[in-house]
Amino acid sequence: MKRPYLSIDPWKIIENGFSSEKVKSSESIFSLGNGAMGQRANFEESYSGTTFQGSYIGGVYYPDKTRVGWWKNGYPEYFAKVLNAPSWIGIHFSVNGTPFDLNTCVEVSDFKRELDMQKGLYTRSFEAQLSPSQRIGVEIKRFLSLDEGALGVIHYSIKAIKGDCDLAIDSFVDGHIKNQDSNWDDPFWDHKRKTISKEFIALHSQTLKTEFDVFTYASSHIISPEGEIISDFKTKEREWRLSQTKEYSLSEGQQCVVLKFGGYVTGMHHAVVDFEKETQRIVTDAKEKGFETLFKEHESAWQEIWAQSDIQIEGDDMAQQAIRYNIFQLNQTYNGKDARLNIGPKGFTGEKYGGSTYWDTEAYCIPFYMATKDKTVARNLLKYRYDQLDKAIENASKLGFNRGAALYPMVTMNGEECHNEWEITFEEIHRNGAIAYAIFNYERFTGDTTYIPEMGLEVLIGIARFWSQRVQFSQNKNAYVILGVTGPNEYENNINNNWYTNYLAQWCLQYTKAQVDKISKELPHRFAEIKSKLNWNESESSQWETIANQMYFPKHPDQDLFLQQDGFLDKDLIPAKELLMEERPINQHWSWDRILRSPYIKQADVLQGFYFFQDHFQQASLKRHFDFYEPLTVHESSLSSCVHSILAARLGEIELAYTFYLQTSRLDLDDYNKEVEEGLHITSMAGTWMSIVEGFGGVQVINNELHVNPILPDQWKSYSFKINFRGNLIEVCVSRQKTDIRCMNKELIVYCDGKAVRFKL
Ligand code: BGC
Repeated sequence: MKRPYLSIDPWKIIENGFSSEKVKSSESIFSLGNGAMGQRANFEESYSGTTFQGSYIGGVYYPDKTRVGWWKNGYPEYFAKVLNAPSWIGIHFSVNGTPFDLNTCVEVSDFKRELDMQKGLYTRSFEAQLSPSQRIGVEIKRFLSLDEGALGVIHYSIKAIKGDCDLAIDSFVDGHIKNQDSNWDDPFWDHKRKTISKEFIALHSQTLKTEFDVFTYASSHIISPEGEIISDFKTKEREWRLSQTKEYSLSEGQQCVVLKFGGYVTGMHHAVVDFEKETQRIVTDAKEKGFETLFKEHESAWQEIWAQSDIQIEGDDMAQQAIRYNIFQLNQTYNGKDARLNIGPKGFTGEKYGGSTYWDTEAYCIPFYMATKDKTVARNLLKYRYDQLDKAIENASKLGFNRGAALYPMVTMNGEECHNEWEITFEEIHRNGAIAYAIFNYERFTGDTTYIPEMGLEVLIGIARFWSQRVQFSQNKNAYVILGVTGPNEYENNINNNWYTNYLAQWCLQYTKAQVDKISKELPHRFAEIKSKLNWNESESSQWETIANQMYFPKHPDQDLFLQQDGFLDKDLIPAKELLMEERPINQHWSWDRILRSPYIKQADVLQGFYFFQDHFQQASLKRHFDFYEPLTVHESSLSSCVHSILAARLGEIELAYTFYLQTSRLDLDDYNKEVEEGLHITSMAGTWMSIVEGFGGVQVINNELHVNPILPDQWKSYSFKINFRGNLIEVCVSRQKTDIRCMNKELIVYCDGKAVRFKL
């Protein structure tokens, strides 16, 4: 096996050596976030090499005017994108009058980056030869506080290793930023005012059109050799770049330590008139605590996270490092504190997918958050969709649906559709089903029966109404059909009767009817409110039932197999392994037309249905479908390998499950698709977690009870994971000899390989 570029370590991601070609990918890999804001691991000092500068704030977006070749009625006017925000990390310096730049200095040695996932700390160090008589050493520590969402901390030290240095330090906030993915090169920010005080510098900027107010601040200090924090920087301004500057002389052997606080105080949490006061509070508090105390608080927040969610793998450090990296990045992206936020496929690490919400959240992320955190976190993800129900109804009505039918967008920030490829915007409607499925999955796992009557039922009714209008009765088939759709496999467009979509639609109609029956009986007052608010009547339930009972499913004429869609068997079903390696991935080598005519499947489609509804199908049926579809699957979506890993594990195909696991878990660390420089695949990281817990661990809730059916890959000596099942922290440890299950707090029965294990207080 090729040696991975990043060193293997159970708790750390380590890059040794400086390579300018790797700067952009390492900027993604070493990204930091704290749920409220996030940033790529850009250098603090000036860098003239190739870089992708990125700092993002949760929930702050811009509606960038849509750019398409041919306009279609129903297209959204804009694509909302998370914005590259003013940067606060910059610490430029010159040595004896020459600006320092890693790209141009004579020689860089001992360059090292390290991300300590246990503590949430990013460090970087290097030595640089500036001239034959001048050498410096630099060490940087950086973290974004988990306690104080608006606070980031940088500890930047410069040492004169050889020769004396006159340093001129320029620590700044910079408003001259752009999104790489801008459609028309329009400006996104309107800078309003500057605040230059003794304690901090700040830029009040407002997003154009959406009018989000953001106060980007920085506060720079020197830590004296005695540990005292000295705040005597001067200030300077150049348009929308504000600096705190300091001259500092070092004799050979001495060092200078800059302590910088920075971040964003936003209008999402504070009134604009309070921006200064709030920033002052954060800065004063940070200064009083100092680096060590702030870091200790941050570290203990990470300790709590790991205590609930760590997965330990013995005997395979690559797999160990990978799963922790995935868990770490998911926690950096979303913490469930704010129901206005969600999880973009690239989180805070890049701009692709616009930072917007996709079905990835419901299908992949919710299982992770509901099992590793308090239930309020996943509930907030569901609330996000509830809060956007009106927009989903509006969205459906724009497409011609009525009577409260809701179509949730494929891509969104605020509930409005942002996607503008007709075959996805109008046709990839299975996303609506994933939202209903997540409501079911959440209640099944957390046991929280309050979400559905409070919010979920309204969402379910909107979704059921959509399906009941989107189907049509085919006289020819004497059944309800769904025409003109795109399934999860986006390598087929505008097809009829995608099995997965039809199955999900049928299930949504049945499930919604069952929930209506239940809530109307158990909570008649609440149901009466919903009924009158939504103008619901009994005939809807019976209509849903009729449609569900007569839903059409495409089937193989001779074999016991569901077909992905009508006409699938007309394709030339040549297994993907026969494709030429030079032509993979096909989406980079083939015309779109050729892809559409081919039998190749981008990601789980029929198998996504088998994953969601495992208990609806016999094992033999799963095997038949897996054996038929997997060989045709090219796994060109990051969401593919995890589902296949889980299903392979359920079929007892451990080696295959393990191969898929490694692909999903090290996708970014090993840059499988040569595109990590664009950002990380955050939502598929939740799939990696699922591959262990639901795949190898075999965790499932069946008939309201927790089942664990673990298997152990040959490469591992043992593994253990934790899940929060209905308020009980359960630890499962799997070794060759046995499976140990520990329940940390309450009474519970867990079924392990079908046998009841009883826990008492
Ligand atoms: C996948 C979609 C997914 C999106 C964002 C696409 O490549 O096909 O299923 O929602 O990426 O992750």
